[in-house]
Amino acid sequence: MTDDVTPNGYAKRWWKAAVVYQVYPRSFYDSNGDGIGDLRGIIEKLDHIKGLGVDVIWLSPHFDSPNADNGYDIRDYRKVGAEFGTMQDFDDLLAAIKAAGMKLIIDLVVNHTSDEHQWFVESRTSRDNPKRDYYIWSDHKPNDWTSIFGGPAWTKDASGDWYLHLFDPKQPDLNWDNPAVREGVYDLMRFWLDKGVDGFRMDVIPFISKDKAFPNLPDDLRAKPQYVYANGPKVHDYLHEMNREVLSQYDVMTVGEAFGVTLEDTPKLIDERRQELNMIFQFAAVEVDRGPDGRWKPWTLPEFKAVFTRQDKALDRHCWPTFFLSNHDNPRIVSRFGDDSPQWREKSAMLLATLTLTMKGTPFIYQGDEMGLTNRKFTDIAQFNDLWTKNAWEEEVVSGQWSTEAFFANQNRVSRDHARMPLPWTPEGGFTTGTPWFALNPNHGAINAESGRAIYDHYARLIALRHAEPALVYGDYEDIAPDHPQIFAYRRTLGESAFLVVLNFSSQPAAFALPETPVRLGNYDSTSTDLRAWEARIYRPG
Ligand code: NOJ
Repeated sequence: MTDDVTPNGYAKRWWKAAVVYQVYPRSFYDSNGDGIGDLRGIIEKLDHIKGLGVDVIWLSPHFDSPNADNGYDIRDYRKVGAEFGTMQDFDDLLAAIKAAGMKLIIDLVVNHTSDEHQWFVESRTSRDNPKRDYYIWSDHKPNDWTSIFGGPAWTKDASGDWYLHLFDPKQPDLNWDNPAVREGVYDLMRFWLDKGVDGFRMDVIPFISKDKAFPNLPDDLRAKPQYVYANGPKVHDYLHEMNREVLSQYDVMTVGEAFGVTLEDTPKLIDERRQELNMIFQFAAVEVDRGPDGRWKPWTLPEFKAVFTRQDKALDRHCWPTFFLSNHDNPRIVSRFGDDSPQWREKSAMLLATLTLTMKGTPFIYQGDEMGLTNRKFTDIAQFNDLWTKNAWEEEVVSGQWSTEAFFANQNRVSRDHARMPLPWTPEGGFTTGTPWFALNPNHGAINAESGRAIYDHYARLIALRHAEPALVYGDYEDIAPDHPQIFAYRRTLGESAFLVVLNFSSQPAAFALPETPVRLGNYDSTSTDLRAWEARIYRPG
């Protein structure tokens, strides 16, 4: 055993010990009054991020884009979106992040491009254009695949041929079987790595390889086609090649968005001996409140806890997990997993912070969770921005299948727009001096960075504790009360060092056999013998 291996057998890596904070630039902070968050805005608020003590910033797409999907449709991978600033602003941001002792990973969105990307502009001009084969074309509609955003995944173009888009028609899928495409992607990756970025979050990366026999969707996966799309025949060949050609040449963090990847298949992507990706985002925890059709359903604490035990058992010492409860595709955690009522919002936000920062797996915090932001109540389709929700409106309400009430009841739980509202820095809003691109949550007078200070400070304390205690990073995980309906209690053990975390996931007090040792870090001052509503305690027994 060397110093580079933990007592329980993990190779130590900086990206395993790191805490990551995600910035969705459009909604972070606007420095020039045009209503859109920008890179200079991130520089201006860097102290806020640095003050948490995080190690890495993940920046959602900052590239030139027509914004059909808010930047996840890239027109030019080497250009900063004009609304976000210039390449100089990016370089300054990167330098400021480094000067603050942090690292930066950026979003790699290469399953698809924008239809306005030069490659697609050329590709669609004619069947014999040299770029035709950069995308996936067919002279007929080959199968019944559907877009994740709704409707068919094939669109007929002016030439009469059909092209594949697993997302919006403005997001045509690249043809990864074409070596020139792969080389083009590797080149753009080198471009950013050579600037000094420290890695990538890879958008829907398991979708890159397509089964060109194009079978129809099997009946049982019709509502979850991602489990088909994530299983193309060459995904591992291509990721291994990407690792060999690019990633292995740098010291990077890679985290793949593994939409549609089962737990059983997870090691194929992240087992370090396979040399593909460092980590992936597993979706099971954030799907606990979704039914088979993707719509909201009630969830229970035992179901939620079981996700993490299953995950832990499925991954051996050669695989490293991530932990996240939210991002720009999910509603706000306090409204979803906590209690967003005035009485319990702050305590439940702190409890969720405790969970995030004491679990096994590299933790990802989404902007605004450290302020305790909540969902809003949408009452009119015009209040939404996200194309996914707008498509759902057409498919569900305009088609007459759903009542408006049922639609809002669901979207008020699941919409991605809950997480995309601009950050409220002050009771007045404080995001922009202009008109925000998307309305702030109407509750920003009460819920904002200033009123959320106690939550922010709790995040900072937890991050400092995680950094000081290897057991909270590398320690083995054991759920000691898997069936308890209110309590989530687990141990993190590394050699002689053992932590016990006890969380009351409910708005009522709960009795639990608590140790007599002092609380190391909690979200209440008092140490009663029962846990109060949303109480979170970290003990170091012994
Ligand atoms: C996953 C991203 O997180 C999401 O925001 C986007 O809409 C899709 N991939 C398509 O790029």
